[in-house]
Amino acid sequence: MTDIALAIVVLAAGKGTRMRSDLPKVMHQLAGRPMITHLLDTAAELSPERVVVVVGPDMDMVADTVAPHRTCVQAERNGTGGAVKAARDALDGFDGTVLVLYGDTPLVTADTMRRAAAACSEGAAVSVLGFRPSHFHQYGRLITNEDGGLEAIIEAKDASPEALEVNLCNSGVMAFDGRHLMGLLDRLDTNNAKNEYYLTETVTLARADGHMAAVVEGEEDELLGVNSRADLAIAEAVVQDTLRARAMAGGATLVDPGTVWFHHDTQLGRDVVVQPNVVFGPGVRVADGVNIRAFSHLEGADVEDGAVVGPYARLRPGAKIGAGARVGNFVEIKNADLGEGAKANHLSYVGDAHVGAGANIGAGTITCNYD
Ligand code: UD1
Ligand code: CA
Repeated sequence: MTDIALAIVVLAAGKGTRMRSDLPKVMHQLAGRPMITHLLDTAAELSPERVVVVVGPDMDMVADTVAPHRTCVQAERNGTGGAVKAARDALDGFDGTVLVLYGDTPLVTADTMRRAAAACSEGAAVSVLGFRPSHFHQYGRLITNEDGGLEAIIEAKDASPEALEVNLCNSGVMAFDGRHLMGLLDRLDTNNAKNEYYLTETVTLARADGHMAAVVEGEEDELLGVNSRADLAIAEAVVQDTLRARAMAGGATLVDPGTVWFHHDTQLGRDVVVQPNVVFGPGVRVADGVNIRAFSHLEGADVEDGAVVGPYARLRPGAKIGAGARVGNFVEIKNADLGEGAKANHLSYVGDAHVGAGANIGAGTITCNYD
């Protein structure tokens, strides 16, 4: 890459109507983490000089979630172009590359972001990350010329049947030469099917000024946009596959990877074996050589070397399972530690307890601290 300064603007003010939710769209979770957090964590890998998140007027929840990043409020939801305009103050005096990310396109990798930004530092006024979706979709179409340069982006709702045939689509990731961005935004109008300021119209305007516009292509898996619950499930599947691959690369055996569900922060050691249908909630750390048997559910738990958990075990926050300890079927453990080599093999609830090393909790035992 070059050493041109980078600013990142993340658009998150949309209502997300198609989610049919009380939550702002970007707060919906992937591997237990809001989409917006997922995206901002990736964006941080580019070490941008400035980051600003554009939110709606009633989105304190999003502002709190992205803190300490700066937020700007888009007073009226008048389109993606309007949203970038709302970031004007935050970009004041900045003339490097401005990378715009959509909060509902959370899976873009840092490398792909870098490629989109690099096209701008190599002379394009605008560069757009394109991809070729495999299924029916409503993405904007990228209209290119014979040289492969970009001429226009046509929104699906505004497209002629001929333009709809184009399979190269807009992922929403766009990079701008900061010296031209505000001038382009000032000339957007709302003469289109949605009566909104489309950020995508900047391409036509830049071309009319004789500037270069570029397309950088990426993979569908990382560029899919989340507009509905069905899209969210597709994105979750992509994230889970990445986490499963990471666990296996780290030395864990997943007997049936597709049935194991991770939280983004799950830590598994080497030679851990995870049998089918295991779910990891937040805050689980599993040390080396642990065997997690089928149908177990773990959250907020620490499992030491060589322990055996399950089948059908439930570890809740504060569960600490000592080295070589065993937690068997239909045993629930909360805020309790099981010493080294201790056993709770059948049908027990162990809450708020210290269980010494080597102890054996008999079937049907309950320990708890009501209140
Ligand atoms: C947009 C693109 C489309 C592209 C697709 C990729 C435009 C005009 N269209 O369409 O070309 O193929 O993304 O997924 O840009 N937002 C605001 N304020 C607004 C409106 C939207 O902040 O007033 C934010 C949303 O929160 C969202 C993003 O911008 O994160 C995209 O908005 P959305 O309405 O989902 O655009 P699409 O119709 O998906
Ligand atoms: Ca979208």
